[in-house]
Amino acid sequence: MAEEAVLGFLEKNEEISDSGQFAADRGIDHQELTNIIKRLSGFRFVDAQDIKRERWVLTEEGKTYAAAGSPEMQVFNAIPPPGISLEELQRKLDPSVFKIGCSQAKKNQWVEMGKQLVTRKVDNVEDKVKDLLNRVQDGEAIDPKELDALKRRKLIAPQTWKGYSIRKGPNYAPKRKIFATDLTRDNLLRGDWKDLEFKEYNFSAKGQPIEGGHLHPLLKAGLCEAEIVVRQQFKMIFLQMGFEEMPTNNFVESSFWNFDALFQPQQHPARDSHDTFFLQVPSTTKTLPEDYVERVKGVHESGGYGSRGYGYEWKREEANKNLLRTHTTAVSSRMLYLLGQQKNFTPKKYFSIDRVFRNEAVDRTHLAEFHQIEGLVCDRGLSLGDLIGVLNNFFLRLGMSKLKFKPAYNPYTEPSMEIFSYHEGLKKWVEIGNSGMFRPEMLRPMGLPEDVRVIAWGLSLERPTMILYGVDNIRDLFGHKVDLSLIKKNPLCRLGME
Ligand code: PHE
Repeated sequence: MAEEAVLGFLEKNEEISDSGQFAADRGIDHQELTNIIKRLSGFRFVDAQDIKRERWVLTEEGKTYAAAGSPEMQVFNAIPPPGISLEELQRKLDPSVFKIGCSQAKKNQWVEMGKQLVTRKVDNVEDKVKDLLNRVQDGEAIDPKELDALKRRKLIAPQTWKGYSIRKGPNYAPKRKIFATDLTRDNLLRGDWKDLEFKEYNFSAKGQPIEGGHLHPLLKAGLCEAEIVVRQQFKMIFLQMGFEEMPTNNFVESSFWNFDALFQPQQHPARDSHDTFFLQVPSTTKTLPEDYVERVKGVHESGGYGSRGYGYEWKREEANKNLLRTHTTAVSSRMLYLLGQQKNFTPKKYFSIDRVFRNEAVDRTHLAEFHQIEGLVCDRGLSLGDLIGVLNNFFLRLGMSKLKFKPAYNPYTEPSMEIFSYHEGLKKWVEIGNSGMFRPEMLRPMGLPEDVRVIAWGLSLERPTMILYGVDNIRDLFGHKVDLSLIKKNPLCRLGME
């Protein structure tokens, strides 16, 4: 219908100068006409030129006043001839109508706002605002001054209207033949296939994009020619360095393994529910190795192995509390305990990469859950020099050759060092991890021999991934706000901070 109208009009006329007018004159929906124009111009039946017009439309507030009258009018109408108390008036009106209406009605000198009574100052008033709004709605031309007043009251807003002017195109014909695109069973049954004209095949058409699974950046990175995932790349590095993966398949952990075994005192702020998610069901752990628990209690309360301990009363109930593990060092503590149980000590190199949870205020660099990468070496006679050497080796394999270390504090390591790397792209030192040598207060109660040392380090998986993919808000990377197109379209990145 509408298509015929357009083609028919152009047969006798040079141009449709305004699609809006054309649609209005014929009672055609403009959106529908726009679709037809686009299609016809795609077939080059017509040439369409964009036309744009600024026009004013009512805001939501403007629409309510256009229907129910301006607030000042509503206030005026709510005042009976003898007057009304302010409270009574307020009760009769919607709060925002009351507020705006009173101030406008006063400004217009329509009402007298006395201390006791609100009264009308004039008998009759005209609701100019409502009239103007209705005229704007009808598309009438309006005095710019009046428009400005409505705009300042945020009752109208500008909107760009888009339409077309249309002329004949190179393939113009007064009627467009509709080609069949499919040969259907019905065509065959009816026999009308003999008369149909079929659309030609377009062999160079692009075809539908293939939809499929996409790897998340945390799982993806290109290492030279091969496509390897970021965490896979970390895993490869650990494996190449002879590390074994620790089992990390328990998000729920007891406070004991997460904190107490790590010589973290029970009053430590990290053990507060502001920092840690505690479980309600089941709220406590069922079993712990009792003799080891006794040794942990002892070392917290009164020390041993050359330490004075913390000198407080250690509570079993606190250790029993279940939580979502706050670091993968909880896994390390379980594994080291197992090593301590061996008859003959065997040195080990362990690593893990998995999720941890912290009850943190979420912002652009923090989430309540993230991933940690952790490595440790357990052997006799290790020193801080070994830790620095292993870290240099590890990070060099990631392409980070300039490292700096800064003394730090962890309850379970002494000494402790924060790890910084010089980022050539950002031209600055960025913190990339935390490290240290586990304290004897942690290792000895596990049963590890006196000369066994453990060097360890931890970093988040998100940080290097954010730097790599140029993501500056962690919520763009992980969590429910992730833009799925990022996951579909992001490039392969080579891990290596150059
Ligand atoms: N557990 C520490 C953290 O969560 C990282 C760490 C691991 C530090 C091992 C020292 C040794 O930040």
